[in-house]
Amino acid sequence: MPEVIVENVHKSFGSVEVLKGVSLTVERGEVIALIGRSGSGKSTLLRCINGLEKINSGRIEIAGHTVSNDPRQLRELRRDVGIVFQSYNLFPHLSVGENIMLAPKIVKNVARAQSRETAEKVLKLVGLSEKFDAYPDELSGGQQQRVAIARSLAMQPKVMLFDEVTSALDPELTEEVLNVMEQLARDGMTMILVTHEMAFARRVATKTIFMHQGKIWEEGASKALFSDPKTPELRQFVKADVK
Ligand SMILES: Nc1ncnc2c1ncn2[C@@H]1O[C@H](COP(=O)(O)OP(=O)(O)O)[C@@H](O)[C@H]1O
Ligand SMILES: [Mg+2]
Repeated sequence: MPEVIVENVHKSFGSVEVLKGVSLTVERGEVIALIGRSGSGKSTLLRCINGLEKINSGRIEIAGHTVSNDPRQLRELRRDVGIVFQSYNLFPHLSVGENIMLAPKIVKNVARAQSRETAEKVLKLVGLSEKFDAYPDELSGGQQQRVAIARSLAMQPKVMLFDEVTSALDPELTEEVLNVMEQLARDGMTMILVTHEMAFARRVATKTIFMHQGKIWEEGASKALFSDPKTPELRQFVKADVK
């Protein structure tokens, strides 16, 4: 049973259809890179997958949950699905440790001692053990993004979704965040990531999906897809990145 099933999903904003029948499956432990031009529907697809946007038709299942409009079902789904965005949205008045312990406490009613232990574990995973008591504004952008990832991991998700998490970062800081994601991939996390980092997608993603105009235009094993694009649109997209 795949960990994620997206079946013929259509999504419109008003009269504009931005997802025009998207289907994909993700097996447990797979890493899928979503690439494509700005406006091609990548973020919308990711948001539909964890129920942040309602779909108009089609079906989505993730981590054993069917995405629906039922708030209770959505709450359960979100315990199992982490999402990280370009903006980290840490609470500035809470320490790193408190930021990470917040959701497990509220959503899962985890006891403080246990949530502290988990927070220390996930902070170690992202290489920031020594920052437990620091405040977000004492950290670099890359460090803040790693805290945001750790905060998601503290919920012990089955699937992680990443939407251009390095786009606001300098190359050096980008690298440290990508390293964390690569480690997660190696540890067997099921991930879908929207990214502009083509070299990273090629190296880490088991499969890459090129979206164009609201459709999956081309997809395949990452190395093959990048070295031998079949459509003129992907060829142009890959070429533009090299410049
Ligand atoms: N909340 C919204 N309301 C109206 N249009 C939207 C909304 N979100 C996205 N869109 C439109 O949907 C299209 C796809 O956007 P998006 O999924 O953000 O693309 P990408 O992430 O690939 O850049 C764009 O034309 C965008 O303007
Ligand atoms: Mg986007």
